[in-house]
Amino acid sequence: MSSFPLVSFLITLMLAAAVCTQRPEHVLDTEKNPVLTTAQYLILPYSPRNGGGLLPVPVKLLPLCPLGISQSSVTALPGLPVSFSTPYVLMETHVHVMDYVNIEFRSEAWPGCEEFSKYWEIDESSSASKEPAVLIGGEKRVQNSWFRIKREENFVGGNAYKLTTLAGTIGTVKGPWKNAPQLVLTNDTAKTFLVKFRKVHGNLTATAPTSRLRMFPFY
Ligand SMILES: *[C@@H]1O[C@H](CO)[C@@H](O)[C@H](O)[C@H]1NC(C)=O
Ligand SMILES: *[C@@H]1O[C@H](CO)[C@@H](O)[C@H](O)[C@H]1NC(C)=O
Repeated sequence: MSSFPLVSFLITLMLAAAVCTQRPEHVLDTEKNPVLTTAQYLILPYSPRNGGGLLPVPVKLLPLCPLGISQSSVTALPGLPVSFSTPYVLMETHVHVMDYVNIEFRSEAWPGCEEFSKYWEIDESSSASKEPAVLIGGEKRVQNSWFRIKREENFVGGNAYKLTTLAGTIGTVKGPWKNAPQLVLTNDTAKTFLVKFRKVHGNLTATAPTSRLRMFPFY
């Protein structure tokens, strides 16, 4: 009897096992390394033509706080770093596509509203617009502070991602600060904010005082 049927049977079995035990896809940074909960990242527009990095800005006058998030109008400005974490403590340090994560700004340089946390959240107040703003002042365990990172399929091979929630996708609209793009939740795919994650190397705490000085004239 030929051993071929047995071999092909075993190969099929191994392939099936490989598919079943496949780990969820890692989110990759611009150096193609897995994004970790233990590091800090700059969230940058996927295309360098589409504005700068992310900054905390006031997005409404009354009340001024909590702040919203806007891209810098200066393309060369990388914005402030963030870190990712899971709402509930896990040993896992890799961030996977479709995990729920909290996003938190990590910077000593801060323009105000210090009484609020630096976690991102979706505006769920009664005054929120149809495309609610992404605000800063979230709470780790509250669902409006949970985001998912999806790879944009149109950019297979590139590491283009978008941030989503259960209720929509993070996009940009013209914001109140010099029309700089402001982050909102939307279902309009034309507004989707395509991003990449650039790992921050070195000690940020030490560089914060200079970035504070440089940050404000460029809003
Ligand atoms: C997007 O569409 C879903 C399903 O219709 C809806 O529940 C959600 O509120 C919408 N979100 C926004 C920001 O328009
Ligand atoms: C970064 O630098 C600050 C101030 O010099 C220091 O307190 C902190 O421990 C450093 N952090 C790391 C991760 O090296």
